[in-house]
Amino acid sequence: MDRRQRFLAAIEGKPVDRPPVWLMRQAGRYLPGYRAVRAAHGFWDVCHAPELSTQVALEPLNLFELDAAIVFSDILVVPEAMGLGVTFGKGEGPQIARTLKTEADLAAWNTQGIIERLKFLPNAVAHLRDALKGGHGLLGFGGAPFTLFAYITEGEGSDEFKAARVMLHENPALAKKALATLADVVAELLEAQCAAGADIVQLFDTWGGLLTAEEYAAFCIPALRRITDQLHAKGRKALLFVRGGHHLLPCLADSGADGFSLDWRTNFSEARARFPNAILQGNLDPVLLFSKPATVAAAAKQLVATMKQTHGGSKSIVNLGHGILVGTPPESVKALCEAVAHG
Ligand code: CP3
Repeated sequence: MDRRQRFLAAIEGKPVDRPPVWLMRQAGRYLPGYRAVRAAHGFWDVCHAPELSTQVALEPLNLFELDAAIVFSDILVVPEAMGLGVTFGKGEGPQIARTLKTEADLAAWNTQGIIERLKFLPNAVAHLRDALKGGHGLLGFGGAPFTLFAYITEGEGSDEFKAARVMLHENPALAKKALATLADVVAELLEAQCAAGADIVQLFDTWGGLLTAEEYAAFCIPALRRITDQLHAKGRKALLFVRGGHHLLPCLADSGADGFSLDWRTNFSEARARFPNAILQGNLDPVLLFSKPATVAAAAKQLVATMKQTHGGSKSIVNLGHGILVGTPPESVKALCEAVAHG
């Protein structure tokens, strides 16, 4: 099987020789080629230029035995295109200039014609698709509404996202309106990436795990459903990653996602028992990559063996339980991919 065949078979539930592998944040600052590109170009410039975006998306594919590529971009392209002023300060994470506090702030979001301003992202997907020549699977992505709402409300990265979580209780109507608005933009952006050649898209809900199951069901599920309904109407598939979402597993089925990317703290077999027919992805601990290559390889082989216990390994995708961390040794990533590919 070639890499794209394996990836497509796994997401369609058709027989595979082994589960495919790709890794969240597989392109980025742990790779020397990426750092060299960033020494010469701003982060948004890399996202906006399809040639640069493709160059950094290809770097990990050239180094490691990965079965799929993910377009190089960011979830925060949406608030940036809404005119909220997104910047990345040195080491401080993202900063958003115009935060959401009131109805008037929401009314000022510039969503008119936003998909035109976001054209660079489907253009990057199309450019990457051509460069791959059908040899690898291809993922598009976007932020889940709550994670975007969390950054927009807080105005910066945070451990607690207090402003966002307080708003759910103090002004639930405004929160729901904001989440629905974000959902519609994200749905359109994901559909544009599928139309440009993405085989599947992933929603990143990095901060959804901060919520209780009741909050998640009331605020996040309806917004996610808005997205998955729009994608399904066009025959597209979506994966959902919720970091720290173990306690949310019982309500995630209602999101309408075709598959779930599991956090490293969720037991794979337990999740498989809950979702017998969903695509399940994950879920090695990103910190494991800081241990010896042989340790990484052993854990990867163990995960593959677990995955092969159901659907012969189909409907499963090897990945991490969150993105690759800055400073990860590339040799560990190599060991992980080799162990999956060659046992
Ligand atoms: O190959 C890939 O997967 C890379 C593509 C990618 C990026 N961001 C590139 C990026 C993807 C899939 C994302 C998703 C993303 N962006 C998420 C969800 C996934 C996760 O890890 O939780 C989130 C929460 C963001 C928001 C964001 N963008 C953060 C927190 C940061 C880091 C800020 C910092 O300076 O530490 C970014 C910037 C960003 N996005 C970088 C990269 C490679 C680093 C920018 C740089 O080069 O300085």
